[in-house]
Amino acid sequence: MRTRMAVLSTLVVSLVILARSAPGQLISRDPGVRRSAAGAGAMLAGLTATQQAFFASGLEAFSEADGVGNGLGPRFNLDSCVGCHSQPAAGGTSPAVNPQVEIATALGARNVLPAFVTIDGPVREARLKYKSDGSRDGGVRSLFVISGRRDDRGDAKGCAIAQDDFAYHLGRNNVSLRIPTPVFGGGLIEAIADAALMANAGASAAQKTTLGIGGRPSRLIPVGNPNRNGNDGTIARFGWKAQNRSLLMFAGEAYNVEQGISNELFPSERDDTPTCLFAPTPNDATNTDAATGIDAVADIQKFAMFMRFLAPPQPSSDQPGGAASIGRGRSLFTSIGCALCHTPALRTGASTVSALSSQTANLFSDLLLHRMGPGLADDVVQGDAGPDEFRTAPLWGLGQRLFFLHDGRTSDLIEAIQAHASPGTGRFAASEANGVITRFRALRESDTQDLSNFLRSL
Ligand code: HEC
Ligand code: HEC
Repeated sequence: MRTRMAVLSTLVVSLVILARSAPGQLISRDPGVRRSAAGAGAMLAGLTATQQAFFASGLEAFSEADGVGNGLGPRFNLDSCVGCHSQPAAGGTSPAVNPQVEIATALGARNVLPAFVTIDGPVREARLKYKSDGSRDGGVRSLFVISGRRDDRGDAKGCAIAQDDFAYHLGRNNVSLRIPTPVFGGGLIEAIADAALMANAGASAAQKTTLGIGGRPSRLIPVGNPNRNGNDGTIARFGWKAQNRSLLMFAGEAYNVEQGISNELFPSERDDTPTCLFAPTPNDATNTDAATGIDAVADIQKFAMFMRFLAPPQPSSDQPGGAASIGRGRSLFTSIGCALCHTPALRTGASTVSALSSQTANLFSDLLLHRMGPGLADDVVQGDAGPDEFRTAPLWGLGQRLFFLHDGRTSDLIEAIQAHASPGTGRFAASEANGVITRFRALRESDTQDLSNFLRSL
């Protein structure tokens, strides 16, 4: 019975598809992960010999798996940066096989997998939306504990803390998920001056008039707002909600939040149950006795150097679909208005690192926050970023990405684009992207294919 229903529904779907397409025309689809070389993971051109040495030692630290004896946990999401940032090269995003599945019970640990962590799903980090008293939470809740674990760095004997009960939190619809963002070209993003971001924010209005879409209601005009730091008022830009200004800050936070390794920026343990601490705090610190500069700096500095010196992803000029299709897709990307948020290029300002000074960053983002409607809203507030606001996701490297959107809900490019649109509800305003997505939906099949080919060339 079920099989017959399935056949029937496949038939209906095929008929609908046939009805929508002109005779002889192909149905547009996401061409999938680009098959050509990764085009990512190399260092920036023009680095000095010393900078190259810092990049190499940073890559080593980024790739190193930590253990109980050097501070892993007591609560953690994985044991290395590269585990979550590996597709298609060190610095990237979620790999095809989720390493969180193996780590949960590796080396004697007895963690239960939360429902949102699966072997072929993306690496995920979880936040709780609200605390039990009903006030906002929004902080990262580690998935795993070291209890029972014994690795080559140490033995968590005596540690008996329990894992958070995610089934309970999921049952109350209180969990918000995020997948890793890639860090390729991170130094360029860091080196864009606030003034350049504000000038670009202002420029989008004029661009819209030129495109003839000025007649839309103003609440639909995607102008965007920066997420400004609380104390110095500068524009934060890293993370799904543009919550951090610097790579060093992100590195310190990730080391503590993802791996449970306390450091000089985040010196407190994630859980200070004394029977679960097996390394002095902070776990990672400057080595004041080291003989060389590279040996002296703490891991968080090494991570930051590696990410800062990591080259941006290299797009393909003719894969997939050929150069002509990609070129048409590039024009459509601008003409239907994607580029109003996904700004194709921004220039960096003056930097102490000459390889980062006055460079063009082809990031396809304005690095601003946009209200994305109830369909994408995660109900988490971070700095100026509201519960329905996200940073325009940079699209460079898209050709090699396996999972899309902040929670990794889809692997299909077209679905990711469609998800931009949702009408307002009582709590959340309509998505700022609705107008542009209406235009996207009006494209001919061949245009949609060109646009997809262009996006997968990045
Ligand atoms: C368990 C998986 C996991 C591990 C381990 C991990 N990350 Fe991440 N990383 C994430 C997630 C998820 C995000 C998105 C976080 C957000 O926006 O809240 C992220 C985002 C980032 C970003 C922001 C990039 C951007 O442009 O948005 C940086 C930088 C980063 N991670 C660096 C690191 C470093 C350095 C390490 C190792 C110390 C590390 N990460 C370890 C999951 C991980
Ligand atoms: C109003 C601003 C805005 C417009 C217009 C817009 N986007 Fe986006 N885009 C975003 C934001 C914000 C995100 C991140 C949303 C999330 O993850 O919840 C995003 C995410 C994406 C992603 C997923 C990237 C990733 O890292 O997972 C793709 C692909 C994308 N956009 C393509 C497009 C295309 C193609 C268009 C035009 C049809 C478009 N966008 C129009 C703001 C916009």
